[in-house]
Amino acid sequence: MVKVNLGGCGSFVKDEAYKEYVEKALSALDVLESETGAGNDFLGWKHLPTATPESLIEECELVRDCWKDKGVDLVVVIGIGGSYLGAKCAIEALSHSFANSLKGEKAAPQIVFAGHNLSEEYISELMDLMKERNVAAVVISKSGTTTEPAVAFRLIKQYIEQTYGVKEAAERIVAVTDAHRGALKSLATQEGYRTFVIEDNVGGRFSVLTPVGILPIVLAGFDIRQMLKGAAEMEAACAERCGCNPAVQYAAMRNLLYDNGKKIEILVSYNPKLQYLGEWWKQLYGESEGKDGKGIFPASVSFTTDLHSMGQYIQDGERHIMETVVTVENSNRSMTIANDPQNLDGLNFLTGKHIEECNAMAELGTKLAHIDGGVPQLSVSVERINEYNLGALFYFFEKACGISAYVLGVNPFNQPGVEAYKKNMFALLGKPGYEEQAKALQARLEK
Ligand code: PA5
Repeated sequence: MVKVNLGGCGSFVKDEAYKEYVEKALSALDVLESETGAGNDFLGWKHLPTATPESLIEECELVRDCWKDKGVDLVVVIGIGGSYLGAKCAIEALSHSFANSLKGEKAAPQIVFAGHNLSEEYISELMDLMKERNVAAVVISKSGTTTEPAVAFRLIKQYIEQTYGVKEAAERIVAVTDAHRGALKSLATQEGYRTFVIEDNVGGRFSVLTPVGILPIVLAGFDIRQMLKGAAEMEAACAERCGCNPAVQYAAMRNLLYDNGKKIEILVSYNPKLQYLGEWWKQLYGESEGKDGKGIFPASVSFTTDLHSMGQYIQDGERHIMETVVTVENSNRSMTIANDPQNLDGLNFLTGKHIEECNAMAELGTKLAHIDGGVPQLSVSVERINEYNLGALFYFFEKACGISAYVLGVNPFNQPGVEAYKKNMFALLGKPGYEEQAKALQARLEK
């Protein structure tokens, strides 16, 4: 269960103002629930936790078991944006921090990602790793036409075909894409790849609980049923028409603070395993809200690490920041600080304390310091990091995003601004049909 605590905002907003924004958020919730708002053909994500069929999970498990029989020990997951960040976030959060360096038998293949950049070094170095390993690949693209994953997939497909043969490659490559449209769909059909469908009514950044996230998470050996269960609990909690709805609370407060001049929201975690929750959240909120000249700028930091880099600015720089802390109440591991009879480092006052207790005190101390420094704090807490709570966090942030964007007055489910760079890139790369634009861009670059 995700809990929202707004105590750290108390000294920044008046109760009356908060109540007013709760009313706005409840109206936005009504629009979302009645499916009458902008982008209402992209609301398929709302019921994924309770509507995902067991057969889909079983099919993912079939792929997992088939690749296990082949001895696959490296799965390359190819995708970008919403076709990348959810799976990356879940797998990073749930994996042992040093899983790939530990000796001993591995229960699941290593999952690596590609197609989320256009770096020649990255893909070449990935090939170095692939040459040492038994490889399979999952290529994910809803549109089936995105350049970054398409480039990576062309190279990885060629490598797999050359290494294992074309027939075997068809058993080592799985596609996740649209049911009918796009180059990836026709390629997968032609090559005879097993294909999972991303439904039309689910946008990329809301797709972590579709095969986009489910398949990589199952391949990595994690319990997707628990993740869907956690998400289902939040599906129920975040549908309630009341001020106790955590998604309503979060959406109301962040919009109120935005209207009071807090234009930047930083998502903070005190556990490095949640670093990619910040990356996933930034895409969700950045692409959903940043349009029509409006929107909170989403950023993320990992504390206490970034207290030694960004801490100064957050405490003392321009006062346009609010922070949302993802609090994890309990650690999955236990380690205390040992006594040292010499006490040369002067740390014996910490003897017997859990590292996590130090982390918790850093979190509380930072909260008070930031409030004193003019940074309101929203807190989103879960009991521990596991599949259940990650599912709950995914759903909570998605629902709150839909509500929040409607309060702001934008369509949460489109991303018109993403096209601008793509058109310029295609023109500069000489894609047929972009000749005129290429000339105009060249002229500007030569100035
Ligand atoms: O949220 C979105 O729609 C985007 O960020 C997409 O996920 C991203 O651009 C990747 O698109 P696709 O899955 O079509 O390759």
